[in-house]
Amino acid sequence: MTNQDLLKIAEKFGSPVYVYDSEKIISQYNRLTNAFSKVKNLRIHYAVKALSNISILSLFQNLGAGLDTVSVQEVKLGLQAGVDPSKIIYTPNGVSLEEIEMVAKMGVQINIDNLSILEQFGTKHPEVPVCIRINPHVMAGGNTNISVGHIDSKFGISIHQIPHVLRIVENTGMNINGIHMHTGSDILDIEVFLYASEILFSTALQFKDLEFLDFGSGFKVPYKEDDIETNIEELGEKLTAKFQSFCKQYGKELTLAFEPGKFLVSEAGKFLVKVNVIKQTTSTVFAQVDSGFNHLIRPMLYGSRHEIYNISNPEGKERFYSVVGYICETDTFASNRRISEIKEGDILAFKNAGAYCFSMASNYNSRFRPPEVLWHEGKAHLIRKRETFEDLIRGQVKMEFTPEKAEK
Ligand SMILES: Cc1ncc(COP(=O)(O)O)c(C=O)c1O
Repeated sequence: MTNQDLLKIAEKFGSPVYVYDSEKIISQYNRLTNAFSKVKNLRIHYAVKALSNISILSLFQNLGAGLDTVSVQEVKLGLQAGVDPSKIIYTPNGVSLEEIEMVAKMGVQINIDNLSILEQFGTKHPEVPVCIRINPHVMAGGNTNISVGHIDSKFGISIHQIPHVLRIVENTGMNINGIHMHTGSDILDIEVFLYASEILFSTALQFKDLEFLDFGSGFKVPYKEDDIETNIEELGEKLTAKFQSFCKQYGKELTLAFEPGKFLVSEAGKFLVKVNVIKQTTSTVFAQVDSGFNHLIRPMLYGSRHEIYNISNPEGKERFYSVVGYICETDTFASNRRISEIKEGDILAFKNAGAYCFSMASNYNSRFRPPEVLWHEGKAHLIRKRETFEDLIRGQVKMEFTPEKAEK
């Protein structure tokens, strides 16, 4: 996808607009499966939360991937995309027993991360095999919001509570068929994965009827030129060796599962915005664009960095700009960045806009959510329309009030 392709997309579909490159998604998927090609039974469950458009799910279905889901709605999207329920895992956190039962009825693999629901579910449905999400007590991840495997985290069943899990299994007669962990996102150091895998293996040895081990995700992708990233190839080699020797010890060839979001879609996405106003203040030059944290919240939510470049003037002289949105609160995408000279009306492209961007978008300030376009085999395909005022008002109920009588 060239700058010219992106400019044409902005012209045709308007701005702001999200664009995803299917070729990049496919190459990341192949990179991961190649890194683990020596594992006999490998399963990649794409984490739907990262980017949940049904055409993206359908692309993954076509590649042979399964899905990692966190809500009954994500499960339904996956089923509508044509993914077989047996290839979907459902890992909710803090949802009701009723929702879990609803998903179990659809034939989806249930993954439970707390003792209370495990006991209730096992008592009512001992015939349904269940995976358990453990908390390995490993501190990992790019920032505190996305570090989820440490001792104070709300996620997973503590590894110190495994004896309690075994008691529940014995009392209910339920079957644990998988062990899962996910320690965080943006993990650079493969030693973290390898260390956590040892904890997963030693937990797994306590369960006799396993079919799979799920190592979650958290691979770090590059956010700028020459940025560091998880070395997937090295991880593939080292973890495969550990997994194979574990399977020997366990006495059964298990399935190895991963559930990446960011790794598969982050770099495939670009977010295109138009510059409405160049505002020079006494200290800063602001480029104010036709979007805000309603459409891309990551910089404001966790200080994420998105490279921004001016596709209308890619060769222009670089100057310093703060790129900000139109929201009625501080709404900074980037501070004092070197970007080639910007004029009002120029189109800027944000990189790494595939994961946790559109899927976290909202209608704050009563703005429409942008359209999504999939660039596939050299053509732009609209995969979500820009919202309209009818979308915004749908579901709202206008009350009629009797006029207040004026006080005399
Ligand atoms: C349970 C679980 N699995 C997978 C993922 C995907 O992680 P990432 O996008 O870092 O690959 C997440 C992210 O929040 C998660 O919570």
